[in-house]
Amino acid sequence: MLKFSYGNSGLSESNLEITRQIAKKAEEKLVKRNGEGSEFLGWLDLPTDYNKKEFEDILNTAEKIKSESEVLLVCGIGGSYLGARAGIEFLNGTFDRQVLFVGNSISADYLNDLIEYVKDKEVSLNVISKSGTTLEPALAFRFLRQMMEEKYGDKAGDRIYATTDAKKGVLKKLAEEKGYKTFIVPDDIGGRYSVLTPVGLLPLAVAGADLYKLMQGARNVMSNSGILEYACVRNKLAEGHKPIEVLVAFEPYLQMFTEWWKQLFGESEGKDGKGIFPASMIFSTDLHSLGQYMQDGRRLMFETVIKVTNSHNKTEVPHSNIDDSLGFLEGKTIDLVQEGARMGTEKAHVDGGVPNLLIEIDERNEETLGELIYFFEKACAISGYMMGVNPFNQPGVEEYKREMFEILRR
Ligand code: PA5
Repeated sequence: MLKFSYGNSGLSESNLEITRQIAKKAEEKLVKRNGEGSEFLGWLDLPTDYNKKEFEDILNTAEKIKSESEVLLVCGIGGSYLGARAGIEFLNGTFDRQVLFVGNSISADYLNDLIEYVKDKEVSLNVISKSGTTLEPALAFRFLRQMMEEKYGDKAGDRIYATTDAKKGVLKKLAEEKGYKTFIVPDDIGGRYSVLTPVGLLPLAVAGADLYKLMQGARNVMSNSGILEYACVRNKLAEGHKPIEVLVAFEPYLQMFTEWWKQLFGESEGKDGKGIFPASMIFSTDLHSLGQYMQDGRRLMFETVIKVTNSHNKTEVPHSNIDDSLGFLEGKTIDLVQEGARMGTEKAHVDGGVPNLLIEIDERNEETLGELIYFFEKACAISGYMMGVNPFNQPGVEEYKREMFEILRR
């Protein structure tokens, strides 16, 4: 079960008393559904309250896709792609179908390379956009739709799946006209909180993830006390001149998870001149680049480390007849070496003025993925309310869109 601790944050129980009261009020607002943006709280009860019929439909559709396609293309951006990609990469090694992501950039080269790559492969396509009007996926979908129509003729529509709003948007209209199978992004769930809806679930199921275990994981942490503590501690640290939080993992499989986390916190909190800037690093890789800044640069950061306690492989350092100065590690597991690196880094960073928060999970599997997702979603909502922002809108994102469309229409 996921465990949060802040023993190396430099904060004590008594330091946190007032902030904890603020966190409790924020949680109350969330649970009583009377805070700003409360019309977007559909994700809060999702682990216990999801649509079982739709769940079966997702699983059956995933089986259909797997039986007829080598590749599933997932076309979406932001909350309409990061959760699925994060989840698939988190579980990597257990998945059995290739899922490729597109529509999350504006790149002629990527689009062409991708189309070329799938030219001789059996393909299905899941286009995901709640609004149905976002430029990046809509533009890519125009190309991919044509590719599918050239490849499969009037059967193309049988391989295209649209995940979108129940009633409105260009994608919804198009899906109706073309007869695509559709999945619904619920009205009361915004993009970055939508990974446990068809947005994330269909690609994850196609990749081979066990969705029941995923939801079980989310249920495990629904009343985990670490959620409130994490929201509380990070706000207290930010108040003490640490406006940047670095999410750290020692497993490269968590790279995209940190990207999902950055979107969740960045879009939810970064508004009205407020918010903790969410950054991420993968250790020990980044200890040999940004690690220098973290240890020795401007003292603006605290770090939250996700520790995966057990890897799937109990690989031991083998015996060697050659003296490569690693004899002292012989017979030790790589897990143990990693833990040594984690503890050493923690000590160095804490000594260097970087408060350290720790989130421990047992291993990488669907259940722990569900635990992390729900833990951060709820903590983010509480934290946003603590700062006095609406964690469920993203007015800033609209600004670049407005400017871009104005330039493109000229
Ligand atoms: O979290 C959000 O709401 C955003 O990141 C959206 O997910 C993103 O902008 C994509 O929007 P849409 O699904 O409407 O295409």
